[in-house]
Amino acid sequence: MKLGFIGAGNMGGAIIKGLIKSGRIKAEDINVTEKNAAILESMAKEQGIVPCKDHNELINNSDIVFMAVKPVVFPSVIAAVKDKIRDKRPLLISMAAGITTESIGKMLGFDTPVVRMMPNINAEILMSATALCKNETASDKDIETAEDILSAIGMTARIDENMFGVFSAIAGCSPAYVYLFIDSLARGAQKMGMNKKQALEIAAAAVAGSAEMFSRSDKHPWELIDKVCSPGGTTIEGVCTLEEYKFEAAVVKAVENSVIKDMSMNKN
Ligand SMILES: NC(=O)c1ccc[n+]([C@@H]2O[C@H](COP(=O)([O-])OP(=O)(O)OC[C@H]3O[C@@H](n4cnc5c(N)ncnc54)[C@H](OP(=O)(O)O)[C@@H]3O)[C@@H](O)[C@H]2O)c1
Repeated sequence: MKLGFIGAGNMGGAIIKGLIKSGRIKAEDINVTEKNAAILESMAKEQGIVPCKDHNELINNSDIVFMAVKPVVFPSVIAAVKDKIRDKRPLLISMAAGITTESIGKMLGFDTPVVRMMPNINAEILMSATALCKNETASDKDIETAEDILSAIGMTARIDENMFGVFSAIAGCSPAYVYLFIDSLARGAQKMGMNKKQALEIAAAAVAGSAEMFSRSDKHPWELIDKVCSPGGTTIEGVCTLEEYKFEAAVVKAVENSVIKDMSMNKN
């Protein structure tokens, strides 16, 4: 399976590195075009990917083409590659935020298999949560192939395309919410006398361990909460304090407002 990446910046570059690191795809099977010559040169030298002189060469040599350029330049890149895509018919995988499979179809002007994906920044450490959907022309096999490749950089979830905004809030924005939570835990510890740096390390480990514990269990979060709250103890005191200060309501409102913002941005 030969892959092509149009754009190898933050996200394209992270996915390429993840795929190579995981051993799922060999570097010599990854073709790249990248406007920034320095990035392309260093990826060829350090990762061993195949730099292509132009998009035509990339599409000719690829079964799957990842569109990894910013949404603002996406339409012009599609305009530049559409004739070649019509001839070669690779599976097109777009990661452009806010650009639907329907609008990609309109930009192309013909039916072709398209998978839309939305990774998150944790792709860099092979722990992305990646959403996927497909257009009508793409087959089940196409989306399975995309899932198989992208599972190399973390978990994948097939969702309805109208849920991409919601996914972005809980997977794309949430790293920032979690960093805020980690910092708040550490700040509490600092207030009570612990060195902040050490408190941050401890808080991050506790958050990562709790997420892993939840993922491995088949229990509802509240069952796990009850398990660590001994009657009259310190944890239930803290949990009730968070409830008193409307922790859950604040998080739910943050997700809701992120989704509303996403919807308003995509209307413009
Ligand atoms: N970063 C994230 O956390 C994230 C999360 C989810 C989805 N995404 C999506 O991923 C896509 C890429 O985002 P990014 O953050 O990786 O952007 P980025 O860092 O700017 O990477 C895009 C790269 O593509 C290059 N490029 C621009 N025009 C090109 C062309 N015609 N041919 C080849 N390369 C070209 C850019 O070069 P120049 O800089 O020289 O223009 C840049 O190096 C976007 O659609 C975004 O919505 C990103």
